[in-house]
Amino acid sequence: MKILLFGKNGQVGWELQRSLAPLGELTALDRHSTDLCGDLGNLQGLAATVQQLRPDVIVNAAAHTAVDKAESEPALARTLNALAPSVLAQEAARLGSLLVHYSTDYVFDGSGTRPWTEADTPAPLSVYGQSKLEGEQLIQAASPRHLIFRTSWVYAARGGNFAKTMLRLAQERERLIVIDDQFGAPTGAELLADVSAHAIRQVLQRPADAGLYHLVASGETSWHGYAKYVLAQAERSQEQGRVAIKIIAKAVDPVPTSAFPTPAKRPHNSRLDTTRLQTTFGLTLPPWQQGVDRMLEEVLGSRELHAL
Ligand SMILES: NC(=O)c1ccc[n+]([C@@H]2O[C@H](COP(=O)([O-])OP(=O)(O)OC[C@H]3O[C@@H](n4cnc5c(N)ncnc54)[C@H](OP(=O)(O)O)[C@@H]3O)[C@@H](O)[C@H]2O)c1
Repeated sequence: MKILLFGKNGQVGWELQRSLAPLGELTALDRHSTDLCGDLGNLQGLAATVQQLRPDVIVNAAAHTAVDKAESEPALARTLNALAPSVLAQEAARLGSLLVHYSTDYVFDGSGTRPWTEADTPAPLSVYGQSKLEGEQLIQAASPRHLIFRTSWVYAARGGNFAKTMLRLAQERERLIVIDDQFGAPTGAELLADVSAHAIRQVLQRPADAGLYHLVASGETSWHGYAKYVLAQAERSQEQGRVAIKIIAKAVDPVPTSAFPTPAKRPHNSRLDTTRLQTTFGLTLPPWQQGVDRMLEEVLGSRELHAL
């Protein structure tokens, strides 16, 4: 089986290189790839790549993910997040291939407190959310053979992430202030990649299971709760002498979203209901703390302070 992966060096793309490898012959591209085009901004090049490789499965982990920047470059966000996935879906349909794609909680307006289901009506607040929603819709229109996973608050040990930012700030400041009125589930790129591989195998056997799924770790928190959790774990490691950094911060103060004005509006309620995914694929999504603990072990255990 041939698998074609776009966005191989992103948080999710990097983990997909690992989780997809045992499924078949994997070709992994990024926007700088030379032999084959992996640039989502080059729609003709993308089509040519798929036509040349003729993959059984296309996995698109690339996207315009700079949420605030997207507000000032809506055309680029639309090309990368909507038109490029549409081209991939059309080419996949022509070949009868499966397209796997990632979307976001930002397709919702964040109202209420109930976790969103796949049946709820999206109403994005931002250019990014709108472009991701259009991407979903164009994929759905082009080919039924798709898996679209909506996820939230993605982190990975590799590269920058919210937890590492908190750890860095906690070494420099006595007090931190963090937003406490946005709720969701921090979700590891490892989990996304592993669940993707399981789902791909199942859908190849049972095409009727293709479709749109919410995929996040279980449980919920706020950014404030997440920050407090990270610092508590770091302090514990510090006490045990297992940590290479010195936490100074003694308090994390909660503030509303309005304390940090940003170009893009973010949803307050990013809770996603994953019942459909867990039932269809027979999978259990672990509590968000489990993946965060693993990531912190890697980050805190490493002596690469400059990496924070
Ligand atoms: N991060 C989150 O919190 C979050 C939340 C919900 C949903 N998602 C979705 O999950 C998926 C994976 O996100 P992620 O967290 O892994 O994002 P990420 O780490 O920002 O990775 C995105 C990748 O896309 C690549 N990319 C950007 N422009 C490109 C182009 N023109 N051509 C080819 N590649 C391009 C980036 O490459 P460069 O490094 O070269 O720019 C980067 O490797 C995306 O669909 C995203 O919308 C993410």
